[in-house]
Amino acid sequence: MAELSRRKILISGGALGALGALGVATPAWSWAPSGSIAGAGTGADPRWVWDAEADPLVAALIDRGDVPLVNQLLWDWNRNDQPLPAGLPADLRDFMEHARQLPAWADRVKLERAAQFNKSRGLYLNLLNGVGGGMLSTAIPKEARAVYYSKGGADMEDRVAKTSILGFAVGDLNAYRPDGDCVVQAVKTRLVHAAVRHLLQQSPHWDGTIPISQEDMLVTWHTLPTFAMRRMRDWQVPMTTADTDAYLHVWQVTAHMLGIRDEYIPATWAAANAQSDQILPRNMGPTPEGVILTDILLGQLAEQTSPGSISRPLCNALARYLVGDQVADWDGIRREPVWGPLISTVWPLLVKFREGLIPLPLVPETAWVIDEAARQYILFYLTKGKETKIVIPTVNRPE
Ligand code: HEM
Repeated sequence: MAELSRRKILISGGALGALGALGVATPAWSWAPSGSIAGAGTGADPRWVWDAEADPLVAALIDRGDVPLVNQLLWDWNRNDQPLPAGLPADLRDFMEHARQLPAWADRVKLERAAQFNKSRGLYLNLLNGVGGGMLSTAIPKEARAVYYSKGGADMEDRVAKTSILGFAVGDLNAYRPDGDCVVQAVKTRLVHAAVRHLLQQSPHWDGTIPISQEDMLVTWHTLPTFAMRRMRDWQVPMTTADTDAYLHVWQVTAHMLGIRDEYIPATWAAANAQSDQILPRNMGPTPEGVILTDILLGQLAEQTSPGSISRPLCNALARYLVGDQVADWDGIRREPVWGPLISTVWPLLVKFREGLIPLPLVPETAWVIDEAARQYILFYLTKGKETKIVIPTVNRPE
C-alpha cells in the first residue's frame, strides 16, 4: 500500500498529500474538546482555523514595510523577563505583551520537573525531536511544501539552525524561568508562521489555500512530544507518571505560546494519542519536495558532523530506525543493509545500559559508534542554533 501510494503521488506531482491524491475523503473532525486543556470548546474543525490575532497583524506589518525595523529591534530581545524594545509599532507591541504571558493553567512546579526530565533524557529527546522530528516533518506534504517554497527552503542549513533554536529552548533547564528564552522563541515563531501564512499565498508554487492551520500545527506538535514519548515507551525507558505528565505540560504550554488554541491542546497523554491517531495518518505521505529536503538534511548531517566519523549510510540507518520504515520510504531514505539491522539490535541495548538495567559487557563495541553518532547529531544542531536568530521573513523562496 505504501509503495502504491508513493507511486501514485509521484505521478500526481505530489501536491495533494497521500489521502487527497488517492481520492479518499478525509473524515470530519471528531476529537472532543472535553479532552483538551480548556476542557470545552466549539468543536470547530481545526483545518479551517488559523491564528486570528497574529495573522492580520503580521500581514499589515509586511504590507506597511515595517518588518525590517521590527526584526532589527527584536534581534536583542532574548530573555523571557526582558521588556520589549522601545520603538515597536503599537499594534505589534500590544499583541506581543499579551502573547508573551503564560496561560493561567501553566504550572511552575510541573515546568521545573519537565526541565529536569529534559535534562536526564536529553540524548533521547534531542535525537527524537531533532533528527526524528525533522524526518517526520518532511513526510507531512503540507509542511514539506511550506518549508520548500518559503524563504528558508532555499537555505536549509540556516533553516535547521533556526528551528533548533526553539527545540533547545524547550529542553533547556531554564526554559520558562525568567532567565530562559522559550517565551521569546515561541512568540517569534508565532510571528514567523503568521508571515508565512500571508506570504505563501502569493507564491506561484502554492495552491492558494491558507497554510499552517491549527490542524497543521497540531500535526507537527504530535511529531515532537507525542512521537518522542511513544518511541521512549517502545524503548522501555523507565519514566514515572510525574515525569511524563511534566513533559506533556511543557509542550502544552509551548503549544499555547505558539498560538495553538487551548480547545485543541490535549489535556492528557491518552487524549494526545487519540488526537495524533486521528490527524497524523491523513496528513502524512510522500512529496517530491519532502524527498529533496530529507536528502539535503541527511547530507548535511553526514558531511558536517565530525568529518569521516559518521558516514551517510549510518545517518540513513539511524534516521530510518527513529521514524520507522513507512516514513523513511516516503522520505526516500535508503535502506542500509549493514547499519540498519545493527542499529535495531544495539540501540535498545544502549538504552538499557544507560538506564542502569544491564551491565557494560552486554553492550557490543559497535554500539559506541552509534552512541557517538547520536551525540554528534545533537552537537551539530546545537552549534548551528547558536549562529543565528529567528526573524520574520518578508519574501518567499527566491525563484
Ligand atoms: C518557521 C517551529 C509548525 C512551517 C518556524 C520556526 C520554528 C518553527 C522554530 C522559526 C525558524 C525559521 O524561521 O526558519 C514550529 C513548531 C511547530 C511548527 C514547533 C508546531 C508545533 C509548522 C507547520 C508548518 C510550518 C505546521 C507548515 C505546514 C514553517 C515555515 C517556517 C517556519 C514555512 C518559515 C520558513 C522560512 O521562511 O524561513 N517553525 N513550526 N511550521 N515554520 Fe514552523
